Amino acid sequence: MHEGLEGKGAREERRNAMGGDVWRVFPEGFLWGAATSSHQVEGNNVNNDWWDWEQLPGKVAHGDKSGDACDQYNRYRQDFEMARDLGHNAHRLSLEWSRIEPEEGRFDQGAIEHYRDVLGTLKSLGIATMVTLHHFTNPRWLAAKGGWLRPEVVGLFERYSRHVAVELGDLVDLWVTINEPMVYATQSFLFGVWPPEKKSVVLAFRVAKNLAKAHGRAYHAIHELLEARGMRPLVGIAKNMMVFDPKRPESRWDRAVASKIDRIFNKSFLDALTTGVMAFPLVRRETDPKLAGTQDFIGVNYYSRTLVGFNIRKPQTLFIDMAVKEDVEKNNLGWEIYPKGIYRILMSVKEYGLPVYITENGIATTDDKQRERFLVSHLREVASAIADGVDVRGYFHWSLVDNFEWKEGFTPRFGLVEVDYKTQARIVRPSARLYSEIIRTGSLPQEHLQ
Ligand code: BGC
Repeated sequence: MHEGLEGKGAREERRNAMGGDVWRVFPEGFLWGAATSSHQVEGNNVNNDWWDWEQLPGKVAHGDKSGDACDQYNRYRQDFEMARDLGHNAHRLSLEWSRIEPEEGRFDQGAIEHYRDVLGTLKSLGIATMVTLHHFTNPRWLAAKGGWLRPEVVGLFERYSRHVAVELGDLVDLWVTINEPMVYATQSFLFGVWPPEKKSVVLAFRVAKNLAKAHGRAYHAIHELLEARGMRPLVGIAKNMMVFDPKRPESRWDRAVASKIDRIFNKSFLDALTTGVMAFPLVRRETDPKLAGTQDFIGVNYYSRTLVGFNIRKPQTLFIDMAVKEDVEKNNLGWEIYPKGIYRILMSVKEYGLPVYITENGIATTDDKQRERFLVSHLREVASAIADGVDVRGYFHWSLVDNFEWKEGFTPRFGLVEVDYKTQARIVRPSARLYSEIIRTGSLPQEHLQ
């Protein structure tokens, strides 16, 4: 077990040793790194549903296609050495299911060898690994048979997870089974803006239920297989958490829907993994005692806040209207920059009593000064949450390098490191250096706190 997984007591002591100055100091052994996902950086994931969808006209902004992306499938060593040089001691990435199991039931040894090399490279550089098994993309064969709408997906995901645990388990420090289950379920099956473009509340929550069940099965499979080999795996999910505030704070209805949507979007999935009760709107409530307690930590992906209002004319979205606050600073995708939100979210997951990792937090911007402000202001709030008793053990910035931002294509720039897509050159941004300094000192630089 690496040093980042130290106990709470040690951090407590450290905080006390720092006297009152706790809010800008991060605990010893804190995991610092960046996050990516296979389809967004690897390039040429030709066997998944996103690849097929991107080829259709009008789906991705500016007609972009993931294509070579950042060519990280070939350039991982260079990228990881860069992360090491920037002081990162951890890295989050995802495995591409469609490479590992290109046809149903046929597992590709070449892909396994590749990922052994990828993870082995990180380990040899002294970088802890957080590995995601599902980050939005599905093998083409799975999509063709109905993907996450079909109950069979649960067993198929378990089989894939077992294969990965056996083949790669010795190289993984932290496991994320599913990335942002509610984002995937809603974007793809409720709003219909991602493949397979379904627009149904019922289908979206049916998918959410299958994702929860699949997570539960993978959680037990990974534990069983690795514990038999004397390892103690740590398994969780990465949960997108959004702050929902009422559009008109004086309106009782808006307050009611804000709190309802907070419960549904932010908490219902975490609740299912805590209690075993899968209670999602409009689908049959189910209980699986084996799903209870299937998180060893909570992964928080935090980006922004949304205002919600009650709208009687919107039954298809559960009578909810969403909007971004006006007259506030935004990123290039129009999302509000709301640092306090990460504090509020962290305090809200305290109820689960589990260690927390920030599995994603970042900003799409071409103004790197704005990224610097984002980084410091958000980390300051993370430090406050730690001081207020949230057991935060690591922070993974989204992202290490600019990458393929799904439907938005290559225009949004989330990277600490710029990618010149014509030459695949990497250009380290000043914000990456600032992050590096924060990692080195374990504290936020005074001049940036003003
Ligand atoms: C996803 C990433 C995405 C990022 C920025 C998260 O929802 O996990 O894949 O690039 O946010 O939008």
